[in-house]
Amino acid sequence: MENNEPKIACFMCNFAFCQTEMRIPSNTSIARVNCIGRIDPVLILEMLEKGADAVMLVGCKPPDCHYIEGNSQAEITVKVLKKLMCLAGLEPERLKLLWYSPIDKKSFSSYTKEYTEEMRKLVLSPIKKAVSESPLMINILAAKNVASEFRLRVLLGREKELTESVNVYGEKIPIEEFNSLLEEIVASEFVQQKIHVLTQTKPLSIKTLSEAVGMKPATVLRQIVNMRRRNMMTLDHIEGTTPFYKALEVK
Ligand code: FES
Repeated sequence: MENNEPKIACFMCNFAFCQTEMRIPSNTSIARVNCIGRIDPVLILEMLEKGADAVMLVGCKPPDCHYIEGNSQAEITVKVLKKLMCLAGLEPERLKLLWYSPIDKKSFSSYTKEYTEEMRKLVLSPIKKAVSESPLMINILAAKNVASEFRLRVLLGREKELTESVNVYGEKIPIEEFNSLLEEIVASEFVQQKIHVLTQTKPLSIKTLSEAVGMKPATVLRQIVNMRRRNMMTLDHIEGTTPFYKALEVK
């Protein structure tokens, strides 16, 4: 494989995999999973962090998921991850969801070649050149923390229930409303996790944090108030009239 060839990490559902049909290009590595809807979103970010230029998720063609809800679970995971990648400074195109069946007329290797071609246009992942304390790596760490956040996982697991069944008041949440709520939660969680990562090693003032996250001091202060309610942050000390905040370990 050429050195500047994009490296693609592929997670593929067992039921979409067919040994005899597979001709896998040398720039693509495949890990098989039970159902693509059950993949841990943190794992996908870790692959990107560890040097993959792109990640491809391959699942059974809807409605063929053997676990019934895997297709919709995978779609929502990808939606959240793409949002997180944008916030972190990575092109969302570096993540692709493909529905595939071994009886497809188009071969799996044609799909991977097409995707490799797309990724060549993006050049290699910026993570490859980033050093560990760089803003990009801090963003990736924050994105991983968001992806493993319990609150977010609960919400993701309830998308179908919230948008398709009526609640005790006889109402459904329209999908658009759910999506914008999700976007809002992901963006706010990302800022909080980034503040948390930044203040893990030393206490910082709101002014320093607002420069680091590119937000107004008043917005940062609002996030810190929320973080203190969630036991993620504490007031460490005051210099003159300036408070300095430090991350608390999240249990
Ligand atoms: Fe293949 Fe769920 S079993 S997508």
